[in-house]
Amino acid sequence: MVGEDAVALAGRDRELGVLLDCLLAGLRGDPRIVLLLGAPGIGKTTLARATLDVAGRSGAATAIGVSADDSGAPPYWPWTQIFRRLAREAALADTARQEQE
Ligand SMILES: Nc1ncnc2c1ncn2[C@@H]1O[C@H](COP(=O)(O)OP(=O)(O)OP(=O)(O)O)[C@@H](O)[C@H]1O
Ligand SMILES: [Mg+2]
Repeated sequence: MVGEDAVALAGRDRELGVLLDCLLAGLRGDPRIVLLLGAPGIGKTTLARATLDVAGRSGAATAIGVSADDSGAPPYWPWTQIFRRLAREAALADTARQEQE
C-alpha cells in the first residue's frame, strides 16, 4: 500500500506500521495523537509526510502546519496553516459536490 514511500523510508517499517495503525483507527472514528520524537535530521518530517500521503490517498483531509523559527511569527501559526488548508479542502469538496448535483 505504501509503495514508493516504503522505498524512500529505509528502516522505518515498524514506525510506519504504528502510524498507519493510528491512521486506520482514525478513519474508523477512533482518532489518535502521535508525537514523533528524535534527534535532528533523524527523519521525523519524512515519516510524518509519508503517513500524510497515505492518509490523503485514503480520502482523509490532510494538512501540515510548520512552526517558524522567527520571534515575529504570528501566534498559533502552525494551527493557522492547518485550519486554512482544511477550510480550503472543505470548500473545494463543497464545490465538487454542488457541481455533481
Ligand atoms: N528512513 C529514511 N531513509 C532514508 N532517508 C531518510 C529517511 N528519513 C529521512 N531521510 C532523509 O533524511 C533527511 C532528514 O529527514 P527529515 O527532514 O525528515 O528529518 P527530521 O527529523 O524531520 O529533521 P529536523 O529535526 O531537522 O526537523 C532528509 O533528506 C530525508 O529525505
Ligand atoms: Mg523535521
